Amino acid sequence: MDKFRILGREPLSGTLAVSGSKNSSLPAIAACLLTEEPVILHRVPRVRDIDTMLKLLEYNGATVKRLASGAVRIEARKISNPEAPYEIVKTMRASSLVLGPLAARTGTARVSVPGGCSIGARPINLHINGLEHLGATVHQEYGYIEAAAPDGLRGNTVHFERITVTGTEDLMMAATLARGVTVLDNAAREPEVVDLAGLLIKMGAKITGAGTSRIEIEGVAKLHGTEHTIIPDRIEAGTLMIAGVMTNSNVTVTECIPEHFAALMTKMRQAGARVEESSTAVEVRPVTRLRSVDMTTEEHPGFATDLQAQFMALMTGAAGISFITENIFENRFMHVPELARMGANIRIEGRQAIVAGPAELTGAQVMCSDLRASASLVLAALAARGESILDRVYHMDRGYEHIEEKLAGVGARIERIG
Ligand code: EPZ
Repeated sequence: MDKFRILGREPLSGTLAVSGSKNSSLPAIAACLLTEEPVILHRVPRVRDIDTMLKLLEYNGATVKRLASGAVRIEARKISNPEAPYEIVKTMRASSLVLGPLAARTGTARVSVPGGCSIGARPINLHINGLEHLGATVHQEYGYIEAAAPDGLRGNTVHFERITVTGTEDLMMAATLARGVTVLDNAAREPEVVDLAGLLIKMGAKITGAGTSRIEIEGVAKLHGTEHTIIPDRIEAGTLMIAGVMTNSNVTVTECIPEHFAALMTKMRQAGARVEESSTAVEVRPVTRLRSVDMTTEEHPGFATDLQAQFMALMTGAAGISFITENIFENRFMHVPELARMGANIRIEGRQAIVAGPAELTGAQVMCSDLRASASLVLAALAARGESILDRVYHMDRGYEHIEEKLAGVGARIERIG
């Protein structure tokens, strides 16, 4: 199993370019199931979750090609197997994103019920309720959810009891081919939802309101092929910016859209970080002292849960007490005991982590438990005195493209070891 060896306290200098968004690419790939024509997606990151999703589409019957340019070409001329099997769903919950597109395109879909995951229960009941509102019959048997709509889906109003990102995406895709108008109420407003709507509109869908909590979709009979460039990964951008701040460095994070992580920018400034943004980059300048600030995760445009662990790593070195509240997932503090092994002073009380700083972090052997927890440990190790060994970095490989090469390219002492 791969590990990272990181020698901390090396100042970074130079430019860190952000890759395309993993969480935007996943629904974009699923959307390719909605048309028999080829779709070309640019800036799809080379990360493990994307490989898993591409494998799933091949399983469904699509032809998938990585082009020399790095783009991905997907052609789902025929859907031979409208199913997401257990083997794939158990490794990645986002594979349930094919439920809506398969039901809409073929009138039938079979998706393995996702189990729990390290950050929370992660049910998909809201996807299922939504599909039922669009006229599908859904039942669960033998560990699978089976949706049937032999006469096609019908537009309807779907009110989400709770805001769900992939639920909104799944239902938006399903509604593009439903008869009549669908309204998604209390929809997610994440940039990834807006990006997906942009792709679907290029494919011929009629969608308004993406980016607000009310999305309206007028169904069409068919969608067609197109080309689309995925938005930059806002979570990777935020992670790289925090790496610059935690190492007191002069770095520029480029090819990103700071507006997509405005809540993080606000918190960074409140903490005293010197971060200067343009429309496509963030410049980081060294500071000697950071102040603790409180933070609560919320749906977009609030502070992203996917940046909570990284922000906590930053707060370990800030002066004062920081209250960090996790509102989206019930078990997303797996990084806390590992950060504590590196000298951080953190106490958990229910949904709140109380970070007392500044702590002087020291290198240690630590274990990655999930994607963003791994990112926070990389950040802590970059700032810590001495050497750290991070075990189970396959979690990191799910969502960060060549992270060790990117960081080593600006002077970090990081290497992958077997
Ligand atoms: C997306 O997951 C992201 N994944 C996650 O990124 C991200 O953490 C999350 O949104 C929140 O921003 C992708 O986009 C592929 P949700 P998703 O449905 O859509 C509850 C990362 O690190 N809920 O918005 O699965 C759920 O349990 C990952 O890249 C239901 O109760 O999250 C959670 O508490 C991890 N029933 C809340 O809603 C449902 O049917 C929000 O989850 C669906 C969700």
